[in-house]
Amino acid sequence: MSSPHSHSRLKYLSLGVLVLQTTSLVLTMRYSRTLKEDGPRYLASSAVVLAEVLKILVCTFLVFKENNFSVQAMKQLLKEEVVNKPVETLKLAIPAGIYTLQNNLLYVALSNLDAATYQVTYQLKILTTALFSVSMLGRRLSLYQWLSLLLLMAGVTLVQWPTESEGDSEHKVLSTGSQFVGVMAVLMACVSSGFAGVYFEKILKETKQSVWVRNIQLGLFGFVLGFLGMIVYDAQRVRQSGMFQGYNTITCTVVVLQALGGLVIAVVIKYADNILKGFATSLSIIMSTLISYFLLEDFNPTRVFFVGTVLVIAATFLYGYEGKPASALNKTETSVNSAT
Ligand code: C5P
Repeated sequence: MSSPHSHSRLKYLSLGVLVLQTTSLVLTMRYSRTLKEDGPRYLASSAVVLAEVLKILVCTFLVFKENNFSVQAMKQLLKEEVVNKPVETLKLAIPAGIYTLQNNLLYVALSNLDAATYQVTYQLKILTTALFSVSMLGRRLSLYQWLSLLLLMAGVTLVQWPTESEGDSEHKVLSTGSQFVGVMAVLMACVSSGFAGVYFEKILKETKQSVWVRNIQLGLFGFVLGFLGMIVYDAQRVRQSGMFQGYNTITCTVVVLQALGGLVIAVVIKYADNILKGFATSLSIIMSTLISYFLLEDFNPTRVFFVGTVLVIAATFLYGYEGKPASALNKTETSVNSAT
């Protein structure tokens, strides 16, 4: 359908958009969760549901466009893909359930950690993604890649190292919530991110169906599960002040960015893979650290944090280095092209 040239362009374009999307989502989400305002704060569970609805609407439009806006073709597609293949459809309930849990965990994390610490710790998902890629997709990792995973863990540990300087303890009191709860939430999100990402990659690359159709299937389950989650955790508050209590422009921006993330990630997984996706998100660490430092003034980097960040970034690049960079690059190109 698409030429190798446009395939490669889409690959790098989608990775670039992912860097921008991840950076803006982290900063806006953190800002939205710590903003002091009158009245109730918005419910994270309702933001997750709304982002899912937005994603389904956009994907439905894209499928409609792919089928030249023919209602007949849409009906046929729905029958073939959903009604006639209940097992295939149900398979998407697994990543959808895990992503829903993960999306809620990330709000917990960002209510308790500053944007940069969150972002760097979350890089441990590169490790979980690699482990799941080996066990579920049968990928093989080189010695450099295993080494880079060790480096990554060392880097993340350094970033997490508690600081005891006076200025910092003052800073800790100012920042909201518990560091421990935040870190636990991120660690759980790392496991779920690795598993769900690789599972979705397996489904996308094993079947030929359009990425937007798969995203609608994923989104429908995500919507139902997210809605149930909202009822279980926030029923009382929803009854009192409604589902959209505390929404403002920033909340809407978070929702739009999260929906955009779902779309971009699906394209990245199709045209590149979960590992290149890791590169893109680690670039966004540098960006959110710098922006968090200069604009939000909510983060005070120490030398240990700096060393940890450098290790994480070095590890990410080492992961992509396979001994013979030029031929390795060509190999990745062809395997990505032939996989899709
Ligand atoms: O951190 P990670 O890359 O695992 O985050 C993936 C995010 O993308 C989750 O918020 C998930 O809900 C979303 N996603 C999506 N549609 C896809 C794949 C991922 O909305 N097809």
